Amino acid sequence: MEIDLSSIGMEKGRQYETVITTKNCENIKNAAPIGVICAGRDKILNRIFKGSKTLENIISQKEFIVNITHSPEIFTASTLGNLPQSQFSSDSALICADAYFKCEVITLTEAVKQSDPVKKKGEAIVIKSKVTELVINKPTSAMNRGFGYVIESLSNLTRFGMVGDDEKEEYIKRFREANRIVVKVGYKEDIEAMRKIKKELMKKGWKP
Ligand SMILES: Cc1cc2nc3c(=O)[nH]c(=O)nc-3n(C[C@H](O)[C@H](O)[C@H](O)COP(=O)(O)O)c2cc1C
Repeated sequence: MEIDLSSIGMEKGRQYETVITTKNCENIKNAAPIGVICAGRDKILNRIFKGSKTLENIISQKEFIVNITHSPEIFTASTLGNLPQSQFSSDSALICADAYFKCEVITLTEAVKQSDPVKKKGEAIVIKSKVTELVINKPTSAMNRGFGYVIESLSNLTRFGMVGDDEKEEYIKRFREANRIVVKVGYKEDIEAMRKIKKELMKKGWKP
């Protein structure tokens, strides 16, 4: 069957939050949350900062696995440390993943993105990869951060009238940061929602 990332809700040009699993030359497996940009039906891009095990393993093995999960436990445990080896399958995927896909590296490029808060040259590598196998264990969609920020910004908007000016300033700061992320990673519907929230804040006399 032809590989098509849209079958797990991935749209070309959008960024999703995933857990990438890799192995080193001694077959020790590693998991870490990493953003994935969908670059077509069977192509993805990652930007990974130097110093991570994930990048080291991808450079040495030229392959990795992208796991789709919505488990806060897995995201947290793999950020704070590594997952126990028992949570990986023999082909290095996460046993509990809703879906996963295997990737082979096409190119590795030294890069820096100007719009990012972390922008020291040579700190990150952009990896372009081809998806060679897609396994769907249960119907799922890759996680996109946009909607969470829309909900948070709406919730803050409803509290805006109930707080003092200092807190209002704080809400405006949070809105600016939320908007930056939504514009970067969200769907057009998320971006449109943020535009409407911004308009409301402006009507109240603020400059979000
Ligand atoms: C949701 C989320 C997304 C992340 N995305 C990236 C990313 O795209 N690139 C990156 O270099 N680090 C990213 N990180 C940070 C890495 O997961 C973190 O540096 C991790 O400790 C690397 O672990 P490792 O050394 O086991 O590879 C992300 C973290 C989280 C929580």
